[in-house]
Amino acid sequence: MQVQGTLQLPGDKSISHRAIMLSAIADGVSYVRNLNDGADLQSTINILRDCGASIKQNENEIIIYGKELYSPSKELDCGNSGTTTRLIAGLLSSQKLSFTLIGDKSLSRRPMKRIITPLVQMGCKISSNDGLLPLSIDASDGVSAIHYNMKVASAQVKSSILFSALGGNNVSSVNEIIPTRNHSEIMLKNMGASIESEGSKIIVYPIKSKLKSIDISVPSDPSSAAFFVALAVINNNSNLKLTNVLLNDSRIGFIEVLNKMNCLITKSNESVHNGEKVGDLTISASNLKAIEIESKTIPSIIDEVPILAVVAAFAKGITVFKSVEELKYKECDRLSAIIHNLEAFGINAYEKNNDLFVEGGKVERMSKITTFDDHRIAMAFTILSLTSFEKYELDNMQCVDISLPNFFNYLSEVTK
Ligand code: S3P
Repeated sequence: MQVQGTLQLPGDKSISHRAIMLSAIADGVSYVRNLNDGADLQSTINILRDCGASIKQNENEIIIYGKELYSPSKELDCGNSGTTTRLIAGLLSSQKLSFTLIGDKSLSRRPMKRIITPLVQMGCKISSNDGLLPLSIDASDGVSAIHYNMKVASAQVKSSILFSALGGNNVSSVNEIIPTRNHSEIMLKNMGASIESEGSKIIVYPIKSKLKSIDISVPSDPSSAAFFVALAVINNNSNLKLTNVLLNDSRIGFIEVLNKMNCLITKSNESVHNGEKVGDLTISASNLKAIEIESKTIPSIIDEVPILAVVAAFAKGITVFKSVEELKYKECDRLSAIIHNLEAFGINAYEKNNDLFVEGGKVERMSKITTFDDHRIAMAFTILSLTSFEKYELDNMQCVDISLPNFFNYLSEVTK
């Protein structure tokens, strides 16, 4: 199969969530173009509307009219989205609101104690189903400052605290164990918040006046780009270009990993927009070799482990992903889902003390992909199946709608 052409993918999911949420509490009118078109973003938009936000969705642009939000009269449905749940909890608590968050079956099994602990410390009254959704949060008495040492490497938890601290009574700080994506910090700074980094610590001051509105175009999602980069590196005679991709260092660990595996991925046309690095990626075919990926790299590839595990299946040797326990708490237990599907296709893969091992070899048998209703598992194994057998079969094709609804169309655009 040949992989060729040029793609410009939809906007980054993480930046899209943050842009809509922060604009909803900003002063005046914000404009956001190239928003991520997945279902998770719709959950965020619907929730903000339930709290009184005025958001107009045109085909190419979202217009957000900053307003005073109010406590909603109904439960807020976060759907499948962990980012919506954890960031909205922080944002609405900064506005002294009371609200209940619910979600689908997958989201209802994901851990929320990681945000409950700091938010309770900040003065929120929270009840939950033993650390799981539904989560009822009462922040009507306001929030106080916090100095918090992160227990897990999570940008969602960090952002939840930073957003909540905007409404705090004093300066707050968050100390990270391993750096995670910093889009909240960048956007808050651009919108006029007082926020600074001091080593591993992020210091944020309560906002005295409202945040400034924004006018941005969201760069393409590197986590979506990773599927097409992978497709190009595991197929011979590839020549693929992805344009306008977000190249924030905390998000492109997969490029470094792939370059170490012997791939040739080059960046060009680099620039900085609204504090975020953007550029084009060109990928040509490679002679893949296995590597060991250290634990400190994992946060920068956290969403790309499924597709990197697929690439590892085509590499010579055993690739090791160290300390990937967090994968168990994603849209499904991705550690088991990766192993299950690799084995179904005849690739040896196993877990030992939270490290994932993938033995590169021949993809021996065609299998129906078990998605566990997880968008990234679905896309990763579609790439594996398409490359090996020029066909694919999934138990749920719709789940890609969560982050990249046109995945299958893009795929046929670049394959011959
Ligand atoms: C995200 C952070 C990561 C990532 C998720 C998006 C964000 O989650 O997996 O897809 O936008 O902050 P964790 O914070 O749970 O690692």
